[in-house]
Amino acid sequence: MQPVLDFLKKNEEWFVQELCDYIRYPSISAQPEHKEDLVQCARWLCAHCEGIGLNAEVFETPGNPIVIARTYLERSKDRPHFLVYGHYDVQQPEPLELGKSPPFEPRIEGRSLFGRGACDNKGQHFAHLKAVEAYLKTGTEIPCDITFLIEGEEEVGCTNLQPFLQAHREELLCDAIVVSDTGIPSLRHPALTYALRGITAVEITVHGPSRDLHSGIYGGAVQNPAMALCQLLVGLRDKNGKVTIPGFYKDVVPLSAFEKKQLARIPFKEKELTEFLGVPKLFGERGFTATERRSARPTFEINGLTSGYQGDGSKTIVPAWARAKVTMRLVPNQKPEKITALVQKHLKKICPPGVRLEVAAGHGGEAYMVSPTSPLAKAALRSLKAAFGCEPILLREGGSIPIVNDFKRILGVDTILLGLALPDDNPHSPNEKFDLDAFSKGMALGALLWPELTSTARR
Ligand code: BES
Ligand code: ZN
Repeated sequence: MQPVLDFLKKNEEWFVQELCDYIRYPSISAQPEHKEDLVQCARWLCAHCEGIGLNAEVFETPGNPIVIARTYLERSKDRPHFLVYGHYDVQQPEPLELGKSPPFEPRIEGRSLFGRGACDNKGQHFAHLKAVEAYLKTGTEIPCDITFLIEGEEEVGCTNLQPFLQAHREELLCDAIVVSDTGIPSLRHPALTYALRGITAVEITVHGPSRDLHSGIYGGAVQNPAMALCQLLVGLRDKNGKVTIPGFYKDVVPLSAFEKKQLARIPFKEKELTEFLGVPKLFGERGFTATERRSARPTFEINGLTSGYQGDGSKTIVPAWARAKVTMRLVPNQKPEKITALVQKHLKKICPPGVRLEVAAGHGGEAYMVSPTSPLAKAALRSLKAAFGCEPILLREGGSIPIVNDFKRILGVDTILLGLALPDDNPHSPNEKFDLDAFSKGMALGALLWPELTSTARR
């Protein structure tokens, strides 16, 4: 193992430069005009994987391509097989004016590598690729077969991955899946994440007059769609931060004493957090700590709100429509479809008169939870400890990676979540970065993991 770790250390600077090349692709999956950039990015990644000695392929899908890279030419049935999942698509970088530098021109400042996708998720899965490269280049035998599955639609709901898993099930059958696409509280708190929240998205549109109207001529005689939408939304959460949609909490499993204790171990400094987030104070559901609220409780969030005139000055109209983009984070046992149906029913009931309401269901995925004490989890914890040089903790995370449920359903295996992003890495915000020490530790983790995980695989 030492030659592998030495190789990683020795080549670290070069690997950072390679990661910069990867980040330069504006692989924004939510914006159709970037479709070709996603194709180019997938091709670059495939060529890169081939270049480091993997057997790689780009698979076309009706959406963005999927890159598969294997450490083997043919699977040998007597060797354990693990899958590393990641995504090369990135979030929209807007609002651009808040970025300190252009999002697709990577910039290094101290130990931070800035760029859209740096931590979510290019840098995180790149660390695993480099670890495997180190095995291959130093002629060190990898004790298992590894397949990298890097997709391009994670940020928009993984539409085409599920059919891909079904179509390639035989080849992808494995002992477990490794994903580094979550976070850790600090480099002194490496973590095994054993739960993720689920999600369900809805788009609420209130339709009013057939066109924007003069508010002086018609205002007062017709319902204002923006006003109606605000009235609809305002009642969905009470002053104690509780969601008021009937049945919303019905299936939520209360937190056990063990879990509350684990969550309380996660370092948390209120003042630091409020300063970092730029808020006067924290807010959330009464009766729960901030850590519990952001990882283990369901929420209702407005992600975007649009209606009427947004330009300079004033324009006296009654807008024709108003729209809210909403997502709800869910916890284990809550079903996305059921929650969406509750929202639709409730909004219909409380909709003000004089408008037409449209509630469109969007993407969704259930929460995920896995045993933090299984042999696999313990093996992962040993690797974390060796790579980071300190005791790892157990985490529940508030974000969502819906595909891990499909891994369980289609391939029948658990996912080990080993995040490398730090709290100030700004995923989905302006000035996203990846910490280069996290990259370095992540590469070591990627190397140390395979003997540990292999030792747990039953043959
Ligand atoms: N890397 C995140 C997921 C994440 C972030 C999990 C932080 C835990 C902690 C991923 O890229 C992501 O953003 N997922 C989306 C999923 C959605 C589009 C279905 C999310 O959580 O909003
Ligand atoms: Zn993301």
